[in-house]
Amino acid sequence: MRVTVSRKAHFNAAHRLYRKDWSDEQNQRVFGKCNNPNFHGHNYELIVSVTGAINPETGYVMDIKDLADIIYEEVETQFDHKNLNLDVPEFKDLNPTAENIVVVIWNKIRKRIDETDDLEVVLYETPRNFVTYKGL
Ligand code: NI
Repeated sequence: MRVTVSRKAHFNAAHRLYRKDWSDEQNQRVFGKCNNPNFHGHNYELIVSVTGAINPETGYVMDIKDLADIIYEEVETQFDHKNLNLDVPEFKDLNPTAENIVVVIWNKIRKRIDETDDLEVVLYETPRNFVTYKGL
């Protein structure tokens, strides 16, 4: 019997989508207004889900307070009110698309979660645009 526990979180951050090795024209063609040189912001919403067996002693899959602390330390303190391109080392040479952001977040949280549990991260860049990564 495996149960999924989920925690929501959010952060505000700025980014610009572009490749240094592409011309201005190519960046504009592929990334459009997301290539604005002066950056733009999003209110990112996050759903982190951990699936595992219920510990018979505690009745928990994991203490959701611990999950909240992990998200706070690994994501919120490092991404909130930051410029992802300039302030977050992971995106120094990695385009901060929603897809790349969700993989970076998953990798940071994965190392803090019991290895017998599964991890899924859903990242909303806008209320209608979201991406999912399960580590597969
Ligand atoms: Ni954007």
